[in-house]
Amino acid sequence: MSVNVPLPGEAHRGSAVRAMFDRIAPRYDLLNRVMTLKVDQAWRRRLLSDLAPKDGERMLDLCAGTMDVADLARRRAPGLRVTGADFSMQMLRRGVEKTALPASQADAMALPFLDARFDLATVTFGMRNLERYEVGLAELARVLRPGGRLGVLEFFRSESRGSRLVHGAYNRLALPVLGRILSPDPEAYRYLVASMERFASRVEFEDAARRAGFREVRGETLFPGVCGLVTAVRA
Ligand SMILES: C[S@@+](CC[C@H](N)C(=O)[O-])C[C@H]1O[C@@H](n2cnc3c(N)ncnc32)[C@H](O)[C@@H]1O
Repeated sequence: MSVNVPLPGEAHRGSAVRAMFDRIAPRYDLLNRVMTLKVDQAWRRRLLSDLAPKDGERMLDLCAGTMDVADLARRRAPGLRVTGADFSMQMLRRGVEKTALPASQADAMALPFLDARFDLATVTFGMRNLERYEVGLAELARVLRPGGRLGVLEFFRSESRGSRLVHGAYNRLALPVLGRILSPDPEAYRYLVASMERFASRVEFEDAARRAGFREVRGETLFPGVCGLVTAVRA
């Protein structure tokens, strides 16, 4: 499958990914709900029930996009001080319109926050898009206080041959059709599929989190071959 948006390790990836999210921002929420049959929100709720944000804590929702996680977190704990950060202004703009929560335009590769600033951080479906996810993990470790909690939801690369086949068929047959109907940017769906197939497996990601300074790293498959959850504590 040919993809024009550069994949990890390819040149000029950051600016091309940002431009792509700026373009799809107006239809992002609709696409998410349709493509996952609304299960995406259940996955986000599950992540938050593991992290258990509390009133008064500071939370960073990185790669926040339209800020669904920030919004759900704030509903769980109305006294939570949550900030959304993303490098796409168009995604953040929609998030701020929807949630009225604070947001900051920021690149996950070099976060504009002080060390140990946050009690918890979330990254949902964002890690896969980073130029180098290991650098993103190191930045998250830096801005979390010792004992701070991290929760990541992602379409990790499947390690099982069976689910790779099922998933590959869905990706190649259903996603492009849905993408064409719902989005003016079919390139975005080719990118989505290619980025899932090239990303780390959940186990590889867990090892990278340990190397970046996290302990109690735990992973779980939420939907076989599709969606995984990783939680960890800043050492
Ligand atoms: C698939 S969306 C996920 C949005 C949201 N977290 C959700 O659950 O729907 C990925 C987001 O990551 C952002 N992103 C990708 N690379 C980034 C980077 N280097 N720094 C900050 N944000 C980035 C994109 O702009 C996009 O909004």
